[in-house]
Amino acid sequence: MANLAKTAWLVALLACLGVGVGAVNAAPVSKTGEQVFITCSACHLPSGEGIPGAFPSLQSLPKVIPQEGGKDYLISVVLQGLNGQIQSNGNTFNGFMQAFAPTFNDEEVAEVLNYVLQHIGKATLTGEQMIVPAEVATIREQIKAGNWPKSHALRQSLTLP
Ligand code: HEC
Repeated sequence: MANLAKTAWLVALLACLGVGVGAVNAAPVSKTGEQVFITCSACHLPSGEGIPGAFPSLQSLPKVIPQEGGKDYLISVVLQGLNGQIQSNGNTFNGFMQAFAPTFNDEEVAEVLNYVLQHIGKATLTGEQMIVPAEVATIREQIKAGNWPKSHALRQSLTLP
């Protein structure tokens, strides 16, 4: 009887451990672009129009997509932030946006940018123009290795209103 109780206890314990390990190993569920954008909208506003002089508008960003380095710039801004003076829609900004690399995974960065381009910028993207997690992963690695330019430098070669 005592042995049986011990066995039962052991089985229960293993079951608990099994559940525990399973929970730790389960792939974290990524947020959708819309969910990630809630964070962005605190500054850029839910419409993405921003606030002149404080937070630039995100509505014209689809214009960079056909440009050389356009996608790289957008991914770079979300991963490593942006600071330094920029001109946007007739306003000057000299602010600071934090790096979101520690906060959002590759899928979340890709999804929020596609959300911004499609829902805020009202763009119709071709499959090739969509930002995919692999592109984010590559740039994340380059940043980690110290081989990636600052976002502000990348913006210099782009044309934005
Ligand atoms: C705490 C405020 C804040 C939050 C949150 C924030 N940003 Fe920004 N963002 C800024 C500021 C400030 C700038 C301009 C920085 C400068 O003047 O150099 C900026 C610039 C940008 C730019 C560059 C725009 C341009 O014209 O080149 C993009 C793209 C951008 N943000 C996207 C995002 C996305 C996507 C998120 C959410 C993941 C986000 N931002 C969250 C403050 C914020």
